[in-house]
Order: sequence, then structure tokens, then C-alpha cells
Amino acid sequence: MKQRVVSGMRPTGYLHLGHYHGVLKNWLELQKKYDCYFFVADWHSLTTEYANPSPIKEFTHQMLLDWLACGIDPNSATLFIQSRVPEHAELHLLLSMITPISWLERVPSYKELRKELSEKDLSTYGFLGYPLLQTADVILYQANKVPVGQDQLAHIELSREVVRRFNHLYGETFVEPEAMLTEVPKLLGTDGRKMSKSFGNSLFLSENPEAVQKKVLSMMTDPARKRRTDVGNPDLCPVFDYHKIYTAETKQAELAAGCRSAAIGCVDCKKVFLETLIPFLKAHQERRKEFENNPKRVNEIIEAGVERARKVASANLKKIKEVMKI
Ligand code: TRP
Ligand code: SF4
Repeated sequence: MKQRVVSGMRPTGYLHLGHYHGVLKNWLELQKKYDCYFFVADWHSLTTEYANPSPIKEFTHQMLLDWLACGIDPNSATLFIQSRVPEHAELHLLLSMITPISWLERVPSYKELRKELSEKDLSTYGFLGYPLLQTADVILYQANKVPVGQDQLAHIELSREVVRRFNHLYGETFVEPEAMLTEVPKLLGTDGRKMSKSFGNSLFLSENPEAVQKKVLSMMTDPARKRRTDVGNPDLCPVFDYHKIYTAETKQAELAAGCRSAAIGCVDCKKVFLETLIPFLKAHQERRKEFENNPKRVNEIIEAGVERARKVASANLKKIKEVMKI
């Protein structure tokens, strides 16, 4: 029996290179070895976007298209949309009965995000319960492993505590999910900050290649290299982080030496990156077009995924309700 992996992503629309290298590439490997459930966490988006929910549906759709184009294979993994599986909400409610508020209040992201998003009123029940909904997402499927980034570790820790409490109260029911920390390559946005849609510094997989070229050519480099004649340091340059992923090692070494001696300029260096990036984007966009042109097929994939997920979810929920005597 394959171990089960469950992971979700909040719908933010088009995927950028940070998502691809940080999450999707890892999912592509996982789907070969594990029984994977990948879903769009649209209810999780509502926890912060409840006042402006109208883009969520479209973002969900765009993200699924990108997942498919990246090679997430509906024959190996189960793809679905969280809100289409109401069992997540039912389990969330049941878990809320046994979860002390203090456990939720002390999850670090709770205070941090409230401060970071202070323009929004996040003094809501739903936002406090974010990691508990996430707990329901994974234990509803008896997930063994949950691939997440560093920022989500505290959420998985909470999930494990909730599982232990549940099992203590009602008998061994859930397996404790384990976080699977994935190594995320450092890829910054065009302005040298973390790549994020809200910063407007992202390179999107589905972006027009000419626009990408323009963005890359104006991308921030080693800040000390102001003029063509200044030497640079690739270790301090966000562009070089991309070479580490996209460029063969011998060529990388050549570029690094050229940068340190000012033998090459940043435009030369960026053009080498673009030589691999642009064809990669074009190939992605071609695969994406095939799905875009076949909405019926995409719809079938989602419906089949939802059905498969609901089957597992409802069977587990039935057992959960039995042990809770409800
Ligand atoms: N909270 C996760 C994030 O922001 C998304 C998510 C929701 C998730 N439910 C999940 C991730 C379940 C893993 C498992 O990235
Ligand atoms: Fe960065 Fe390349 Fe310019 Fe060096 S030459 S600063 S590595 S873009």
C-alpha cells in the first residue's frame, strides 16, 4: 500500500516560478511514489478574502489549469477543490468541539499574519480556525505525509496535537500526519524581494514571453554592480539563483567568473538565463493551451477528482461520527 500524501494551495490565480520550483516540482515527484491528494484550498482563501471573494472562483480555475500543464497527472493524483468536498467543513466543525482556543491563538502565523494584513479585519472565527480547517483537510484522508514549506510547520504540529487529543478522547482513529519539509530553492522576484503576486515582482508560468524577457532584463542584480565596468558578486545576485536551477554547471562557473571579473555584463548573463527560460515557458503554455481548449476534459478531471475525494472523505467521516457517537 502506498502512503498517502495530502497537500493544498490557496487559489492565487496564475502560478509563478516560485510556486513551480517551490511546490509543483515536488508534487510531480510525489505523485509517482505516493497516493496523492492535491486540492485548491478555496475556503482557506475566504479566511482572509471574505470581504472580496469574487476572484476566488476564477483563481481556482486558473490554478488548476497551471497544475495540469505542469504535469500533475489526474491518473496518478486526485485533484479536487476543497469547497466541493463538504466533508472538510463537517470534520472542521467536529474538531472545533475538542480544540482549545489557546492552541489556535498560539500558532505563530495567527498573530504574525494579523499584523501583516492589518488593513483587513481578521478578528474572525474563521481566521483563528485556519489551521484547524487545514487539520481537517489532511486527517480526513488519513494522510501520512503533508508536503509543506517551513511557514506551515506549526500548522502540522497543531494537527498532530489535535489528532492525539481526538485519539485520547475517542480511541485510536487518526494517524498523526507528518510534515514533509521540501527544500525550496531561493528564487526572488524581479525587485529582489520574495516573489509574491502582491508585490508585482513575479514571473508567471503563463506570462507572455516578451513581457517576461523585459522583466528579466530589468531585474535587480548585485546592487554593487552599478556600471558595466564594475565587478559583481554572483552570490549576492538574484539572477544567479536562477542560473543555479536553469543553467548547466560548467556554464554557471563561466558566468560567475565573468561576473567577478566584469568580463561579461548583466545583460549577457541574463540572456543566457532567458535562452532556457523562454522555451520552458513556451512549452508550459502550449500544454496549458491544450487544456484551455478542452474545457470538457478539464471539467471531467475535476469531477472525477471530487468524486474520488468524496468517497474516501465520506467513508472516513462516517467512522469519525461513529466514534464520536453522533
Ligand atoms: N495553508 C496552506 C498554505 O497557505 C494551504 C493548505 C490548506 C494546505 N490546507 C492544506 C497545505 C492542507 C497542506 C495541507 O500554503
Ligand atoms: Fe548578476 Fe549575472 Fe550581473 Fe553578475 S553578471 S551581477 S550574476 S546578472
